[in-house]
Amino acid sequence: MKIAILMVLAYLLGSIPSGIWIGKLFFKKDIREYGSGNSGTTNTFRILGKKAGLIVFAMDLLKGTLATCLPMIFHLDVNPLWFGLIAVIGHTLPIFAGFKGGKAVATSAGMLLGFAPLFFFYSLVFFLVILYLTSMVSAASILSAIFVTVSSILLPYFWPTILPTHNWLLTLVCFVLTCYIIFRHKENIQRIKNGTENRVSFGLNKKE
Ligand code: G3P
Repeated sequence: MKIAILMVLAYLLGSIPSGIWIGKLFFKKDIREYGSGNSGTTNTFRILGKKAGLIVFAMDLLKGTLATCLPMIFHLDVNPLWFGLIAVIGHTLPIFAGFKGGKAVATSAGMLLGFAPLFFFYSLVFFLVILYLTSMVSAASILSAIFVTVSSILLPYFWPTILPTHNWLLTLVCFVLTCYIIFRHKENIQRIKNGTENRVSFGLNKKE
């Protein structure tokens, strides 16, 4: 019973539509009607600016982290990854925003932060390198998701300080989330192929 209640709580946490609420509350804008139409961090930066973007990023990240930490907080003997995964589902299909949410990236990253903080920072470095090289958040997000999945298998052998033991559930969850992230980015992938994907003002290929 306690597990079921906490799973619902994880979903509700994930469902908090940070970008939509910040946009409506402080800017009188529904960011889903602008830019890429996404309600996540990138579109918030694009439409509402740096300060709002950072706040939405922090909220979307930390709701994944908090959901992942629920079993630890309530002393439950359940793998925390299930709670992180449920928060990601909430983030992409939020009950508070007509089930039209983000693309799963920031909240998945939050899950990683809650589950294995060093692994999160290691992955963040990769994300920033790809972002610098491509200036495209979508490309950095997709490649990072693939990188995280492969790393979850290899790190315990090659760099155990970052991830000491191999955990098949972590690899499975990362694999499922990678497929989901790719699916949620299908329009971005089409734009990358056409050479029309949005770029950020950072890196080697930054927008003018
Ligand atoms: O996390 C979403 C990002 O990868 C792409 O966002 O708004 O450019 O579609 P956007």
